[in-house]
Amino acid sequence: MSESSVQNILIIGANSAIAKALARRHARKGDTLYLLARDGDALEQQKQDLLLRGAAEIHTDRLDVNDAVARSECLDKAWQTLGHIDTALLCHGTLPDQQAIAHDWEQIHREIETNALSTLAILCHLAPRFREQSQGCIAVISSVAGDRGRKSNYVYGAAKSMVSRYLEGLRGELLPAGVHVLDIRPGFVDTPMTAEFDKGLLWSKPQRIAAIIDRAISRRRDVVYAPGFWRPIMLIIRCIPEFLFKRLNL
Ligand SMILES: NC(=O)c1ccc[n+]([C@@H]2O[C@H](COP(=O)([O-])OP(=O)(O)OC[C@H]3O[C@@H](n4cnc5c(N)ncnc54)[C@H](OP(=O)(O)O)[C@@H]3O)[C@@H](O)[C@H]2O)c1
Repeated sequence: MSESSVQNILIIGANSAIAKALARRHARKGDTLYLLARDGDALEQQKQDLLLRGAAEIHTDRLDVNDAVARSECLDKAWQTLGHIDTALLCHGTLPDQQAIAHDWEQIHREIETNALSTLAILCHLAPRFREQSQGCIAVISSVAGDRGRKSNYVYGAAKSMVSRYLEGLRGELLPAGVHVLDIRPGFVDTPMTAEFDKGLLWSKPQRIAAIIDRAISRRRDVVYAPGFWRPIMLIIRCIPEFLFKRLNL
């Protein structure tokens, strides 16, 4: 598939701020988008906005990623409608308050389900179909939080780490079929997920992250830190020895 031709793009968690910024970029290129998200009204609003911005076609469907039956039905319907998918973008996620959920297994389980297990289940569905079509990109938003288990955020971090490790293996499996698997690791992004946080120098807008993701897809990168300055930051953080790391207030 040439870069200039109209592409079929599937976005899961399509009402996320980063997903919306990505969808707008694809709309401007005249692509066809298939949007899956929980909030039907927000999807409809986004659909109208994307059509005005130049999208060829917009399809929408409601999906809670933790609903196994709906997940499978929605994804089947997306393949039937689109025929082939050039890029699948997995953008859903929740950021729990670590202190509030600490040692509450039901809540921890729910967070792991949303941030990791649902993603793995979706990848299980997508991978054989991408392999069959022998082209395309599966791009998943993980996080820098998955690079190390910080005491302030380790449930979310553990889930994202699971996603990144899974993608690492899947990338090798799908390589012979020519399918690109991208692991996206944003740092701090100013979105509804982080509305409560004080913002500073290390923060980025979702539009900037979307541009980085777009470029990483076209360059067939394996792992992209977004923005790129997070790569050296995380390298340093990964190098901190455990005896010291456990004492840090990170
Ligand atoms: N913001 C950051 O600093 C940051 C940093 C690193 C990684 N990330 C990751 O970036 C991705 C996008 O997040 P964002 O920053 O754009 O935040 P966001 O705007 O809050 O988007 C998160 C989206 O996930 C959706 N979602 C949550 N649970 C879901 C479920 N069970 N089923 C379907 N959708 C569900 C939410 O749907 P509703 O709209 O229905 O609530 C929301 O649209 C996430 O994977 C997040 O973990 C974010």
